[in-house]
Parts: sequence; C-alpha cells; structure tokens
Amino acid sequence: MPRSISSPVYGPEFKYTPSKNIYWVKLKELPAAMQGFALTDHDTETHRGNWRSQFHAKPISGVSAPLHVEIGCNAGHVVLEWAKLNPDARYIGIDWKFKQIYRLAEKIQKNNLKNIQAFRANADRLPSMFGEGEIDFLHMFFPDPWPKKGQQKNRTANTRWLLSIAPLLSPTGIFHLKTDHAEYFEFILQNLKELDSTFEIIDMTKDLHAANPQAKLLKIPEVTLFERLFIKDGLPIHSVKVRRR
Ligand SMILES: C[S@@+](CC[C@H](N)C(=O)[O-])C[C@H]1O[C@@H](n2cnc3c(N)ncnc32)[C@H](O)[C@@H]1O
Repeated sequence: MPRSISSPVYGPEFKYTPSKNIYWVKLKELPAAMQGFALTDHDTETHRGNWRSQFHAKPISGVSAPLHVEIGCNAGHVVLEWAKLNPDARYIGIDWKFKQIYRLAEKIQKNNLKNIQAFRANADRLPSMFGEGEIDFLHMFFPDPWPKKGQQKNRTANTRWLLSIAPLLSPTGIFHLKTDHAEYFEFILQNLKELDSTFEIIDMTKDLHAANPQAKLLKIPEVTLFERLFIKDGLPIHSVKVRRR
C-alpha cells in the first residue's frame, strides 16, 4: 500500500477499500471469542479519543492507564509480550498486513489478554484513529526504509506525518523510533531538525547496543524480531526518542 506525501490517505475523504484477502474477511467477521481483540479499516477510527475505555480490562480506579501504540507491529511479537508483563497498561498494535494482525488477535485470545488490541490499519491514518493527547508511548520499530531514490516518497515518517502525530502525544508522551538503516535515520534526524519547534529530542544514539557485548543474546521484547536479525548481521541500531514541545 505505498502512498505518496500528497496522497489523500491523510484526509477525511479517504476510504479503505474492500480486499479479496481472506484475512480481511476473517478480521471483519471475528468469531465471538475474539470480539474486541482486533479491528480493521475504518473500525479502527470509531473510538478516536476514547480507546482506554474500549479494552476488556477493567479501568484502574483513579488512574489513567498509560496507552502504548506500536506502529508496524507485524504479528505483535513485542507488543504482546509487553501486554503480558504490564497488565495495568493498555496496548494497541497496528500493522497494515491482514494476516499478521489476525495472527496477533489469535495470540491475544490464546493468552487471555484483556489489555491489548490489534488494528489492521495504515499508519498514515493515525490522526483519524487517536485523539489529542491520547497516546503516552508511540513506538515505531524498523519501518520500511524505502532506500531507492524513487521510493523515498513512500516513507511514513516524513515531516507532514510527524507534524500530524505531534498533537496525539500526551504532554509527557514519547515517540520512539529504531532503525538499522543509517541513511533513513539521517532522513528522520533532518525531519526532526526541520520540526525543532514541535519536537524535542530527549535521547538519540547511532549504536544502541554498543555497550552490550551480549547484544546477540537479547530476546523479544527487549529487542524486536527484525532487530535480532540486524544485531546478528552486525548492524548498529539507531534510536531516537522525542517529546512534543
Ligand atoms: C520491517 S517490518 C518491522 C516489524 C517489527 N516492527 C520489527 O521490528 O520486528 C515493518 C512492518 O511495518 C508494517 N508497515 C509498513 N508500513 C506501514 C503502514 N503505513 N501502516 C502500518 N503498517 C505498516 C509492515 O507491514 C511490517 O510489518
């Protein structure tokens, strides 16, 4: 689903189109036991600003549970483990692959988790999915780098997208991006420099595991599925965390 910066995918006129993918149908017609674990297309936009009350887990009295959103979660390897470890937090894993999101929904059911949901959606639609200040932690790990010149228009974290997600972060909210791709990381840093009045960089490294000689032994969720492969290949992991100003 490549899209360009001028793509109408950002706008209110955008419509997800029905798919012939078998998992599109499966996600639309979830068995009763899986209801509330996965949503697809415009259903992911129905509770904008109100997601915390849409989990099976009971609200924590007097406290607002932190909401984590992982973009490009694949089949939810990391976000699922986080949800198991932190029952008081709320997690939403987003990917545009139907099958991977269905797989995540199956794992949520199998593990009887009540604090996590899987969204099959396009990351460009984030401002239509979440309300102002709703997200406490926004994670984006190893987004497709689209390395060729002609492909770069497909990169999600362009300045327009970064500007669009800033209001979705809570006042202390953090956006965290990791990549193995040095040139892509420079692209991100350049975008953040242009948006210096919007974002403050609070942590940045071009070799996240430099101080850890045992990095190859790290397991999910300390590292992601792709991160483990990149570490094995000896690639340094680039990481940046930002807050909105
Ligand atoms: C390289 S994989 C990384 C997966 C995982 N984050 C990890 O680190 O192991 C990138 C993932 O992002 C998803 N993705 C790419 N563009 C997306 C978009 N615009 N919206 C939602 N998901 C997207 C892909 O389907 C894929 O699962």
